[in-house]
Amino acid sequence: MSHVIWITGATGAIGSALARRLDARGCKLVLTARDADRLAALAETLSGEALVLPGDLVEPGTAAALLKQAEETLGPVTGFSHCVGSTLIRPLHLTSETDLNAIFQLNYFSAFHALKAFVAAALKHKQTSSAVLIGTLVAQAGFPNHEAIASAKAAVAALAMSAASSYAEKGIRVNCVHPGLTRSALSARLTGTPEAIERNTKMNPMNIIGEGEDSAAMIDFLLSDDARWITAQQLSVDGGQAVIHPLPKS
Ligand SMILES: NC(=O)c1ccc[n+]([C@@H]2O[C@H](COP(=O)([O-])OP(=O)(O)OC[C@H]3O[C@@H](n4cnc5c(N)ncnc54)[C@H](OP(=O)(O)O)[C@@H]3O)[C@@H](O)[C@H]2O)c1
Repeated sequence: MSHVIWITGATGAIGSALARRLDARGCKLVLTARDADRLAALAETLSGEALVLPGDLVEPGTAAALLKQAEETLGPVTGFSHCVGSTLIRPLHLTSETDLNAIFQLNYFSAFHALKAFVAAALKHKQTSSAVLIGTLVAQAGFPNHEAIASAKAAVAALAMSAASSYAEKGIRVNCVHPGLTRSALSARLTGTPEAIERNTKMNPMNIIGEGEDSAAMIDFLLSDDARWITAQQLSVDGGQAVIHPLPKS
């Protein structure tokens, strides 16, 4: 079956790695982020069909309007991955209302609007479909000073679980991938210098900082027909960091 996949945050580390993987296996792509020039530059590097549809997904009407345009050009969109997000490392008592709103708008509300539009379209075209949202390691374990982003991403994870339950019977799968620290623009403070990389590598059980490709490989699988019986799952791509603890020392 030929797939048409919508990648939001397509120019990011995870989104662009996903675009390259899906392009290589013959999917048609719909690429969204705010910066149209960066999207066009990405599309030029791909060999197959890629429709560039820029937009700000924090705006409530944007996702549905973009999907409508995508379907008019490429037909039903059967896969979707929301690779949009940001981070905030700030203690709870210093987190302002503005910080909190911005984090929830970009990480949770954008995911809600985009998944809602995708599901509404999938219900109309009645084809099996797969959506993958992105949470984070810090919503799976306690990390200091991550209260705002951890709770916004926990809400994303809950959104995926509930939507998976609502639409399982209709053949619409929804899963959530939780990356650990991954080299990207978003994580530049923690991955942008050799010193930061060395410090943060040591905190990971496998002594690895992720690349966009690591999470993209999992998302690619979840979007594929090989994952046809997998839904409502929370899948960590973090070298085990959410669950592995060091051996206590005597
Ligand atoms: N990197 C990590 O360590 C890490 C860890 C855990 C979870 N994650 C999650 O993984 C996902 C991808 O992260 P990444 O590291 O690949 O990020 P990234 O490289 O910073 O990319 C973010 C992408 O989102 C787009 N974007 C930002 N705001 C947008 C908006 N309002 N509307 C539409 N697009 C928007 C950006 O393009 P424009 O700026 O042009 O809009 C870019 O394409 C995010 O959900 C993030 O929270 C990342």
